[in-house]
Amino acid sequence: MGPNISIVAFVSVLLLPTVLLLSTGPMVLCRDDAAMQTYIVHVRSPAGTVFTGSEDRQEWHRSFLPPTSMSSSAPRMVYSYGNVISGFSARLTREELEAMAAKEGFLHANPDRILPLQTTHTPEFLGLHLQDGFIKGSNFGRGVIIGMVDTGIFPNHPSFGDDGMPPPPAKWKGRCDFGASLCNNKLIGARTFVNGTVGKSPPVDKEGHGTHTASTAAGQFVKGAEMLGEALGTASGMAPRAHLAIYKVCTDEGCAESDILAAMDAAVDDGVDVLSLSIGGVSIPFYADNLAIGAFGAMEKGVFVSCAAGNNGPFSETLSNEAPWILTVAASTMDRSIRASVKLGNGVVLNGESLYQPKDFPSTPLPLVYAESSGNPDAAFCDDGSLDGLDVKGKVVVCVRGGYVGGIDEGKTVKDAGGAAMILMNQVVDGFCTFADPHVLPASQIGYADGTALTAYIGSSGNATATLAFQGTVLGTGSTPAPAVTSFSSRGPSGASPGILKPDISGPGVSILAAWPPTVNSSSAMAGRSATFNVISGTSMATPHLSGIAALLRAAHPDWSPAAIKSAIMTTADTLDRRGNPITDQNRLPATYFALGSGHVNPTKAVDPGLVYDLTSDNYVPYLCGLGYTSKQVQAITRMSGSCDTVGRIPQWDLNYPSISVILGSASVTVKRTVKNVGAASSVYTAKVYNPPGVAVSVEPRTLQFSAVGEEKNYTVTLKSTGSGEGAVSEGQLVWSSSKYVVRSPISVTLQ
Ligand SMILES: *[C@@H]1O[C@H](CO)[C@@H](O)[C@H](O)[C@H]1NC(C)=O
Ligand SMILES: *[C@@H]1O[C@H](CO)[C@@H](O)[C@H](O)[C@H]1NC(C)=O
Ligand SMILES: *[C@@H]1O[C@H](CO)[C@@H](O)[C@H](O)[C@H]1NC(C)=O
Ligand SMILES: *[C@@H]1O[C@H](CO)[C@@H](O)[C@H](O)[C@H]1NC(C)=O
Repeated sequence: MGPNISIVAFVSVLLLPTVLLLSTGPMVLCRDDAAMQTYIVHVRSPAGTVFTGSEDRQEWHRSFLPPTSMSSSAPRMVYSYGNVISGFSARLTREELEAMAAKEGFLHANPDRILPLQTTHTPEFLGLHLQDGFIKGSNFGRGVIIGMVDTGIFPNHPSFGDDGMPPPPAKWKGRCDFGASLCNNKLIGARTFVNGTVGKSPPVDKEGHGTHTASTAAGQFVKGAEMLGEALGTASGMAPRAHLAIYKVCTDEGCAESDILAAMDAAVDDGVDVLSLSIGGVSIPFYADNLAIGAFGAMEKGVFVSCAAGNNGPFSETLSNEAPWILTVAASTMDRSIRASVKLGNGVVLNGESLYQPKDFPSTPLPLVYAESSGNPDAAFCDDGSLDGLDVKGKVVVCVRGGYVGGIDEGKTVKDAGGAAMILMNQVVDGFCTFADPHVLPASQIGYADGTALTAYIGSSGNATATLAFQGTVLGTGSTPAPAVTSFSSRGPSGASPGILKPDISGPGVSILAAWPPTVNSSSAMAGRSATFNVISGTSMATPHLSGIAALLRAAHPDWSPAAIKSAIMTTADTLDRRGNPITDQNRLPATYFALGSGHVNPTKAVDPGLVYDLTSDNYVPYLCGLGYTSKQVQAITRMSGSCDTVGRIPQWDLNYPSISVILGSASVTVKRTVKNVGAASSVYTAKVYNPPGVAVSVEPRTLQFSAVGEEKNYTVTLKSTGSGEGAVSEGQLVWSSSKYVVRSPISVTLQ
C-alpha cells in the first residue's frame, strides 16, 4: 500500500498543472485557489510594539499576506488572533507561505487540522453531596464561568434554566447570539465560529454532543431526568451554579483548529475561568499543535483548560492533548449498570447491558444464531445487509462489537432482518467494558469472557437457545468493580513528551446521562423517538466532569493558578475502587498509570490538598527548550521574546509536575520538585516511597516543615535502575503525608 499511495500523490502533482493549462478560467487565480489551504501562522511582534487596538494588530497581520492576494476574489485572512496566540489564520498557497516565511517576525506555520470530537448519578458517585454545596466553600461553582468549545447548545433545555442563578460576574464581556430571550443567567454567552466565519448563525447544537457536555459541566438540577425510563434521578452538572458560555466550533464534519483558536481567543477576552474541550487529534509536537498553543495562551491568562484524552484505547501511545498545561482526562465506568441478562438454554446467565428495557419480552427460549455462521465476512459485525441469506426471523442473533459498525446500528441490521433480539459480544480488546446503549430492539451487550462462554455453548449445542431478561438500573458494585478505566480510553505514554506522565486523571465517561436536544435523534437508529436526555460514552463525557470540578475548585480558591487546581485534582485522586481494590482496566487487571493517570478524581479531597505543585507560564519555557524545540518554535507557543540559550533548558521530568515520569538507563536521574503549602500553616510532611520494581529511589530531604501558608519547599527524587527489567515500564509512588494530608505522586519509570 505504501508505495501505491506515494505514486498516486506523485502523479497528481504532475497532472495538476496540465489540468490547469487546459482550463479556461483566469489562470493565476485558478491555480491559487486549487492549491490554497488554511494555515495557522505564528508571528512575533517587533520589539517594543504595543498595539493600540485590534485594528492595529489586524493591519500588522495583513502585512504578512501576499500582495497579489488583494486582487483575489476570496478573502485570505480567516482570523486575526489577539489573546491566546500571536498570529492569524489565512488561506495561502504553499509558495505564498514560503515567501511569507522570509518576512521579519514570521515564526512558524502549520496547516489547519480538522479534529474529531471525541447526569443523574455522577455527582453522588463522585461523593458530591447536595448539602455541602458539593464541596466545601465551592457554593456549587457560583460566580465561575465555564466556556464550552463544542457543537453548540440547545438553549431551551431545563438543564439550562436559570432558577436560583445570580447574574454573571462583572468581568463577563461576552455576548449571546441567540438573542436575549434564549440566554439567561445560566447560559450567559453563545457564539459560533465555524469555517472561518463568526456569528453568521446562532450556535444551535445539531449533533447533541455540546448540549450533553455543557449540562455535564454545569447543568441545573432537573428532577426526574431519565432516558427510556432508566437512570432515573435528579440530573445536575458538576457545578450547577456556574455560568455557561458556549462557543460552537464543531459540526458533523469535525472541528477546525483555526475555529477552535478563534473561540479560545474570544473566550479569554470574554472572561471565562475554565475551558472544556471534548475534542482531540493525534499526538504531534506542541509547536505544531494549535489546540495546545491556544491552551497555553489561555492558561497564561489564568484560565483552566481541560481536554479529552481520546477514544483510541486500549492501544498504547494513543493520547490526544498531551501538553502539561492541559488537564488530560481519561474515561472510567461508574457503579451503575442498566442490566439486560442473557439466559442460555443450558441455564447459564450472562449479565450484559442495554438502555432499552422492554418489559414485555417473552421468557420462552428462542433459537440462538451466530451471525458469523452466515459465511459472509461482514456478518460477524452485523454490518448493514450482511445477514441476507441467514434465517434469523424470530431468533436471538449474536453479533460482534466493532468492525467500524456502531452497536446500535448492528441492532438495526438484526431488526431489519427480522431478528427478535441481539446479543452484542465484545472483542478481546474491550474486555469486560459494556455500554448501556439505546438499542432499537431487545438487546444485551456482554463482555469478552461471557462472549467466549456464549460461543462455546453455541458450538457445543446443536440446538442453542437463549432469552433476555431486563432488570433495569442496578446500582452498586456487587458484580462489577467501579470505577474502572474503560477500554476505549486512550493510553500513554505521551508521544510528544514522555517525561510527563499522561493522562492526568480519570473521570466518569461511560453511559453518562445528560441533556440532549429533542430536535436531534439520540442515535442514528432511534427512529423517530425524541428525548430530552441521552446516555452516551466517551472521554468527551469525562472531560466536562473535570471542567465542572475545576470550576468548583476555582470558586473555593479564586487565587489558585490553573497548575495549582490541576495539582490538587491529581495528588488527591483515588487509586482504589469502591471495593477497596486497586482500580482496574477493561480486563479487570490493575490499571496502569498510562490508562488511569494519577487516579480517579475525588473532588471532596481535591478542595483541600495540603500541598500543591505550582507552575507559572514562565516555568514551561525551559521545559519546552529542553524538548529540543528551536527558539522560534518555543516563541510560537509561549510568545516569549528571548532565545532558548538565554532561558536555558531543563529535562522534561524537571518541570514541577504533580506526577513523575522518567526514562532510566544505567545512569541515575535526579528529579526536582517544589511544593507549596496550601493547608495548615504549621505542618510537617514526611516522604514515603513505594519503589517501582527494579528501581532504587531516594528522596532528599525526607521531611518538609512548613510554618506559613504559601511557603515553598524544594526536594529531589533520585532514581537508579537496579539492573533488571530492560524495556519494561515500572510503577511506584511518592507520598508526602502530614497528620492531616496525603499528597501522592505516581512514579512511572521506563527502563532502558
Ligand atoms: C467554508 O468556507 C469556504 C470559503 O471560505 C467555502 O469555500 C466552503 O464551501 C465553506 N464550507 C462550508 C462547509 O461551509
Ligand atoms: C430444541 O430446543 C427447543 C427448546 O428447548 C425444543 O422445543 C426443540 O424440540 C429442540 N429441537 C431439537 C431438534 O432438539
Ligand atoms: C430521526 O431518524 C429518523 C429515522 O432515521 C428520521 O425519519 C427522522 O426524521 C429523524 N428525526 C430528526 C429530528 O432528525
Ligand atoms: C528551590 O529551588 C530553586 C532552584 O531550583 C530556587 O530558586 C529556590 O530558591 C528554592 N526554594 C527554596 C524554598 O529553597
